[in-house]
Amino acid sequence: MLVRDVTAERLHRRIKKRELFKQFLLNPKQVGTVFPSSPWLVKAMTRAIASGLNPLQIAASPLVLELGAGTGVITQNLLAMGLPPQNLYVVEINPILADELKRLYPTINVIVGDARNLAQILPTELRGSFDFTISSLPLKNFDAEFRSQFIESVFAIMNNNGKVFQYSYFFSNPLKLNDKTVESRAVKQVWLNFPPATVWQYFRAR
Ligand SMILES: C[S@@+](CC[C@H](N)C(=O)[O-])C[C@H]1O[C@@H](n2cnc3c(N)ncnc32)[C@H](O)[C@@H]1O
Repeated sequence: MLVRDVTAERLHRRIKKRELFKQFLLNPKQVGTVFPSSPWLVKAMTRAIASGLNPLQIAASPLVLELGAGTGVITQNLLAMGLPPQNLYVVEINPILADELKRLYPTINVIVGDARNLAQILPTELRGSFDFTISSLPLKNFDAEFRSQFIESVFAIMNNNGKVFQYSYFFSNPLKLNDKTVESRAVKQVWLNFPPATVWQYFRAR
């Protein structure tokens, strides 16, 4: 990478940090952090998708949903790994962050809305067809009812083999649901993030 590219990248990251900080001050519970995900966390999240797919499959097929994209650092990595932009749907509840995502990535599908209403806000014909969901929602900031609505909303738009990934700070499972319909697996711990994070995968219990 050229020195100029590295400098531009740093500047870009600084601007993103400032915007996230501003939005955090306005709504700390919903935004959940003042720090964009670290490059290590971003890689852990996108690798979770890439494992099991060869580059040809990545370029050809998967339909990917990103929830709570924030500053778009994971979005950028998904595109960099070769995902066709038209296959990427991003749902972000904060209209300022969503506008910035639209400006930065004009060829992806950005939807301003609540991840608990996916069946209503995504195109009807895509219901039941997503291959991957990758979520940064600060689930620990919300109550059990929110978390239950969230995971049901996600499962409703996935296909039968769809995979759901979520990161959360520290090591406890953010989806502490009482019902036995959801199974969880810790996929990766990422120490090089502030705060340290864990990537979780969720399954519909069969
Ligand atoms: C922890 S931040 C994401 C940080 C992001 N990974 C980054 O590095 O920039 C959580 C994001 O989830 C969004 N969010 C919170 N609740 C949401 C909801 N119900 N539906 C969609 N997005 C939501 C927030 O606006 C925020 O952008």
